This record gives sequence, structure tokens and C-alpha cells, in this order.
Amino acid sequence: MSLLPYTELQRDIQRTAREFAQRELAPIAAELDREARFEHALVKRLSELGFLGMLIPEQWDGLGLDAGSYLLALEEIAVADASAAVLMSVHNSLPTQMLLHYGNDAQREQFLKPMARGEMLGAFALSEPDAGSDAAGLRTQAVRDGDHYVLTGTKAWVSHGTHADVILAMARTDASDARAGAKGISTFVLTPDLPGFSVGKKEDKMGLRSSPTVQINLDACRVPADRLLGEEGRGFMYALASLDHGRLGIAAQAIGIARAALEAAAKYATERKQFGEAIANFQIIQFKLADMATRITAARTLLHAAAAAKERGERVTRFSSMAKLFATETAMWVTSEAIQIHGGYGYVTDYPVERHFRDAKVTEIYEGTSEIQRIVIARDLLAAVSSGDIDGHLTD
Ligand code: CAA
Repeated sequence: MSLLPYTELQRDIQRTAREFAQRELAPIAAELDREARFEHALVKRLSELGFLGMLIPEQWDGLGLDAGSYLLALEEIAVADASAAVLMSVHNSLPTQMLLHYGNDAQREQFLKPMARGEMLGAFALSEPDAGSDAAGLRTQAVRDGDHYVLTGTKAWVSHGTHADVILAMARTDASDARAGAKGISTFVLTPDLPGFSVGKKEDKMGLRSSPTVQINLDACRVPADRLLGEEGRGFMYALASLDHGRLGIAAQAIGIARAALEAAAKYATERKQFGEAIANFQIIQFKLADMATRITAARTLLHAAAAAKERGERVTRFSSMAKLFATETAMWVTSEAIQIHGGYGYVTDYPVERHFRDAKVTEIYEGTSEIQRIVIARDLLAAVSSGDIDGHLTD
């Protein structure tokens, strides 16, 4: 039973992802979370399934699938293990998409192909310790020196940066004014073997604990000039355009987390007896479950409508932000309600919902906070005021 008109192929992919995730990820997710342990075998297993090249055309060794198939698979992975989902989301929607859309053929041959096959893991390095929401305020400098650029600075909050083979990093090539903003930023294809590249501080996080998040130190890191992605000065635009896709992935991840919490809460409600009967018989619990399921279905419907617009080649900045905003706030609310239904048992690690709650929180923060999503949506709709079609419902 589904509201959405999935194709047979999409259903097959969803089934494959679900079987894999429930068989191989769900049984060890709590243990990996407890030990904050990243399983490198995950990369190999995801690549064997083709899940690290889903959106890359076959010409570049990917599967050339549609966004809907990818998001369905991602949701299934997130239901089982949200940390595994962030790896799949970041790799598929940020570094690979940047190389596909803005790289040249030599870069695609050298990096995108092995990334699509899952032989190289990709990461994304935009943020810095002092540049989060204001991403254009980044300070890492890239100075041209003959046939190299020399990069100096610290990148922050790099998901799976410990194990990444290719990191798409943004740095400032316009040295004239450190607050020149977006226009002075370029993107570079970094690899850990470059002199001056090192992995720095590893964060001790509340959730997504088996997904290592690190700083990357660039200490006069010498980067061959042919590692510049696209044009100098366009790197910030490339990053934001890629985040339009990335945010769809985070929405799918959040929906997966919320669904895991709903499934756990509904099961618990049928098993837990109070006042002589299963708490699922009480209307107050039924109302909670009904609201949780309604919000999850609404979030998924918004997400897949945005994905369909992307497939039609439309600009999805506003809808991608809406999908992320709504899905991640849904995940936070649903996981909180799931704990409430479990009562005290929801607050301890014997049950999975406290993990889902901790995992949900960061979805409201990374790839743009909820506040940034609201800014993106509001700017877009205010720009449309004079058109008379503020929410984009009347025209294509
Ligand atoms: N697609 C393409 N271009 C875009 C764009 C988009 N979605 N959004 C903006 N641009 C362009 C603009 O048109 C502008 O170009 P012009 O000047 O030529 O017109 C340029 O980019 C700069 O845009 P803004 O003037 O809007 O820039 P701003 O400084 O006001 O910032 C912002 C906008 C929305 C606040 C942006 O900084 C932002 O999204 N911040 C949040 C950053 C973020 O999401 N970080 C997450 C990092 S990844 C992560 O979390 C870790 C991980 O590994 C998962």
C-alpha cells in the first residue's frame, strides 16, 4: 500500500535495499553506535550492490538510476542504520555529483569511475570551524604556485573523512578580500596522499556515532592545478547546487530514521501491557501513532515529488529545502514521541529508540540547518512575489 506510483524497478531496488539492510546492517547497528566504530566492509558491501554509483550514468561506470530509486534505497538503509545512510548519501549526492556535473573527462576518468564502482569513497569539505551556516565566509586559502595550488586552512565536519579517498574541498582563490564571499571560492579534488594533507580532530558525537566526522588540515598542501574543478571562482555555486541534491538525501535518511522509530513504537505498544491491556488499545497511544505515520507519509510524499521534479530537469532548490526541513523536523518529533510511548524504556539503550532520537538530531543541522532551509525557501518565494505565483503551484 503506497500513495506514490513507484515503478517495478523502484520496488525491486527498494526490496533489495531492505533485505540487505535488515539482514546485514540492523543486527549490528546498536553495537557499532555504542563503540563508535566504522566498519570499512560497509563500503565494499554497498559497492557490490551498486549503491555507491546509483546516480552516475553507465558511461561513467554507475547504474544510471533515477533519483526516486536512489531515495527509496537510502530510506531502507537509514531504517537499519542511519550512520550507513550518511555515507551513502554524501558519496552519492555531493562529491560524485560535483565531478559528474562540473569535472572534466580526465577527472571523471580518474576519480568518478572508481567512485561509481565503489572503489574510492568520496567526501565533501565545505564547512570550517568558523564557517558553518555562513559557508561563503570560509577562510582556507588556495594560492597559485606554478602548476600547483597551495592550500592552507582547516576544513570541518567532514563525514567519513577518515576513510575518504577523494575529497571535494572548497577554498578561497581570491586573496584580495577574505570576505569577498561566494565569488572568490573554488573547488579542488583532494586525495589524502597530497603533501600537507592530514586528517585532524575526530568529533565525539551525540548520534551517527559509527560515521566518523573529522577535521581535515591543509598545511601548505600542494595540489596539482589540474585538480581544480570547473572554473576558478565558481566553487561555491557548485557546492550549493550539489547541496540541492544532498538535501534530498538527508530527507530520505530522516524519513528512514523516523520510520524505524515508528515501527519500534508500534511494536512496543502492542506488547507492553498497563492497566491490564496492551497500551496500543489506548486512544492516546493510537493518536500518537496516527500522527507519527501521517507526518512520515507527508514527508515522503513531498520528498518524492521533489525528486520527480529533479528528474524532469527542474530547479529544485526550494523543494529540496522544503523536503529536508519537513522530513528532518518530522524525524525529530517522531523519535521523541517514540520515546514517550516507550516511557522509561525509551530512555535506556535496551531499546533502539534513544539511538534513533540521537541520530535524528543532526539531520536538522548538517547540509544546512533548519533555519538555513527556511532562509532558502523564503528567499526563493520572495523572489517570486512579482510573478503572482509565490509558491510555484500555478506554473511549471
Ligand atoms: N544552486 C546554484 N547556485 C546557487 C544556489 C543553488 N542552490 N544558491 C545560491 N547560488 C548562487 C547564487 O546565485 C549566488 O551566485 P551569484 O552571486 O552569481 O548570483 C551565489 O551562489 C551565492 O549565493 P548567496 O548570495 O545566496 O550566498 P549566501 O552567502 O547568502 O549564502 C546560504 C546562502 C543559503 C546561507 C548558504 O551559505 C548555505 O546554504 N549555508 C549552509 C551551508 C551548508 O549547508 N553546509 C553544509 C555543509 S556539508 C555538511 O553538512 C557535512 C557533511 O559531510 C554532510
